[in-house]
Amino acid sequence: MTIETERLLFRPWREEDAEVLYEYAKDPRVGPAAGWKPHESVEESREIIRTVLTQGENYALVLKELGHPVGCVGLMTPSLHERERDEADGIKGITVGYWLGVPFWGRGLMPEAVEALLEYCFQTLGCGRVWCGYFDGNEKSKRVQEKCGFRYHHTNRSIALADGVICTEQVSCLSRERWEQRAAAHTSAAHGESEDCLLPAGM
Ligand SMILES: CC(C)(COP(=O)(O)OP(=O)(O)OC[C@H]1O[C@@H](n2cnc3c(N)ncnc32)[C@H](O)[C@@H]1OP(=O)(O)O)[C@@H](O)C(=O)NCCC(=O)NCCS
Repeated sequence: MTIETERLLFRPWREEDAEVLYEYAKDPRVGPAAGWKPHESVEESREIIRTVLTQGENYALVLKELGHPVGCVGLMTPSLHERERDEADGIKGITVGYWLGVPFWGRGLMPEAVEALLEYCFQTLGCGRVWCGYFDGNEKSKRVQEKCGFRYHHTNRSIALADGVICTEQVSCLSRERWEQRAAAHTSAAHGESEDCLLPAGM
């Protein structure tokens, strides 16, 4: 899978990324918000690249202006509750996760990455719905989801994290229909039309 945006390039993680991964993943403001503990050494980061980041659909987000990874996005099988909902609706769902190194926060990089990932999920993978969640209090992640068109769906209580901390997860989702309407609105806006004319009331 090759995704490129204006400022970012998605690529698989490599063992030689261990030092740069450690630089960002050791910061306690990053991992715990996404459900994992801060990395404690370059060796641990290398091990996580080997055992986690190169398994499944995880991608290093390379900031083109620097030429090295500054964050990560991943696609995962939805958890039980969301999977049951997808099955009941007869659609394929997928869950998106992400994090970014602290020095790069606040530049709209993650919304840019997630928008590109959504196109891949809906157009290439044929998903009918994309799920995304955040732990209570993570307003930054909530904002990313809002900016990308996700809407609150349900709350998962008593989620046990690896370190034993119990969290409440707010789960949001974006349906294919809503994503297509947003994409059409953006295209029309780019041609000078008003978005208000295109979205039905309440969207
Ligand atoms: C969530 C995260 C990926 C956001 O990425 P980003 O590229 O900075 O996203 P944005 O630039 O769109 O900023 C999102 C919000 O974060 C807040 N924010 C931005 N920069 C900030 C900073 N330096 N300090 C504190 N808050 C900041 C703002 O509220 C912003 O919303 P706004 O644009 O409406 O003002 C990033 O903060 C992160 O990696 N956090 C830790 C890991 C995590 O929470 N992962 C998600 C798990 S669900």
